[in-house]
Amino acid sequence: MPGESFYLTTPIFYVNDVPHIGHAYTEVASDILARWHRQAGDDTWLLTGTDEHGQKILRTAVANDTTPKAWADKLVKEAWQPLLETINIANDDFIRTTDERHEKAVLIFLQKLYDDGFIYRGEYEGYYCVGCEEYKQIDDLMETPDGDYAGQLVCKIHGRPVELLKETNYFFKMSQFEQPLLDLYESQPDFIQPASVRNEIISFVKQGLNDLSISRSSFDWGIQIPWDTSHVLYVWFDALLNYITAVGYGTDQATFDRRWPGTHIVGKDIARFHAVIWPAMLMAAGVAVPKHVFGHGWLLVGGEKMSKSKLTGIAPNEITDTFGSDAFRYYFMRAISFGQDGSFSWEDLSARYQSELANGFGNLASRVVAMVERYYDGVVPAPADYSEADLVIQKTVADAATAADAAIERFAIHDALAAIWTIVEELNGYITIQEPWVLSKEEATRARLGTVLYTTAEGLRALAVLLSPVLPEATAKLWESLGLSALGDVKDQPIRAAGEWGQLPVGSKVSPLDALFPRIETAAPVA
Ligand code: ME8
Ligand code: MG
Repeated sequence: MPGESFYLTTPIFYVNDVPHIGHAYTEVASDILARWHRQAGDDTWLLTGTDEHGQKILRTAVANDTTPKAWADKLVKEAWQPLLETINIANDDFIRTTDERHEKAVLIFLQKLYDDGFIYRGEYEGYYCVGCEEYKQIDDLMETPDGDYAGQLVCKIHGRPVELLKETNYFFKMSQFEQPLLDLYESQPDFIQPASVRNEIISFVKQGLNDLSISRSSFDWGIQIPWDTSHVLYVWFDALLNYITAVGYGTDQATFDRRWPGTHIVGKDIARFHAVIWPAMLMAAGVAVPKHVFGHGWLLVGGEKMSKSKLTGIAPNEITDTFGSDAFRYYFMRAISFGQDGSFSWEDLSARYQSELANGFGNLASRVVAMVERYYDGVVPAPADYSEADLVIQKTVADAATAADAAIERFAIHDALAAIWTIVEELNGYITIQEPWVLSKEEATRARLGTVLYTTAEGLRALAVLLSPVLPEATAKLWESLGLSALGDVKDQPIRAAGEWGQLPVGSKVSPLDALFPRIETAAPVA
């Protein structure tokens, strides 16, 4: 029987350009949460995909002498799907807003809102930023004193001029959801996380909500409004619906009931769309709101948000080509508190790779396997009586497993890693103090040697299980080397039971382990 539903989504990314490490960051965090829950036996589904309609994509395609669909196909195939391989994402589905399944279900949703009186025809007059694909208020803009756009009103986010629209559009009666939204934030305090994002959203909604223009008629790259095909749907209204169209909304009720409501991981730049517009849309349609919207922080370069439009993007494979995907995944989750902004630096990445992955975890694994080979011909020995020091290790493992699971529950991936790393540190300290190489010298200490090696190898077993969501490649190698393949793959080991002592069978046959994190000789690429 499947466990509790855990349906997690990433944003669907614009295909106007190729991914950078900011997009990879969201993917990795989501993938780690999903892998953890999957390994815990929860009924897990990870969705990611691409956002392909709207003016931004249309203009990019035109500028590249092609059609928007051909452009999107190319970017999806050559850049966005390969990204998932580069950083080892185990998504269950990939949705494109040009998929027929999506377009069909969007029409069902729209028609329902229209029939129920939530949509009306009106005049829109105001600003629009194509970079954000967002209608802007005057507070969202600034006048630039100098540069290319001197004297013009530019978007505070993109620093580029906005456009003044005057169009007949269809509007969604969002204003009537102001109080229901405030009630939602109040009654479900963990709906928006972290607190900084929650506070910002609440004060935004308290200033009052306008109705939202949800159609455009000056271009045609989008989903046609079913009752008036001279309009296409506003790209955000279209995009947000991916979260339900991908799991059967309007077409497969059983799947929809099984998965929904889900949880959304997004960057804080788009938290408002997810925590205001999206739940209002769902309330209007009589569909449950999401469980949580988590708005993570930004990767900064030179103190500014890394972005495509500002040309500060670093391609994920610039990192993985040298350090590998496991290190990529580990580094960003360990170095930055999930929810806060963080700066990327090659120096910090190299330093953590060397000290934490190569010397800390990798070296521990190699040493333990090598000692079992050397002193016991590769056969895991039975422990004799446990001493105080051994029991401390057992408690460290149990406590770390419990703390890590609790941390994952509150999206604190960095805390989960810190908890798990106490095992690495304790085991390294334990080996130094227990000196198995000394115990190996005399027959009298042979039993003690068995206990020490069993304790370290069993500690590694727990580490492999707990780190599998973060380091899928290294832990798979370690698992095999510990002779544990008979128990199944490491990624299928029940993670909430990882801290229970004694799961490594006595008599397991270990095999040689190449360095999990080899020394990197090349200098870091120069930006
Ligand atoms: O907004 N640091 O797509 P998008 C951290 N299509 N994360 C970053 C980042 C950075 N510097 N830069 C980008 C869209 N991201 C819409 C979403 S969802 C229904 C539609 C990540 O291609 C982060 O997750 O502009 C951010 O929210 C997202 O990329 C924006 O991607
Ligand atoms: Mg963006």
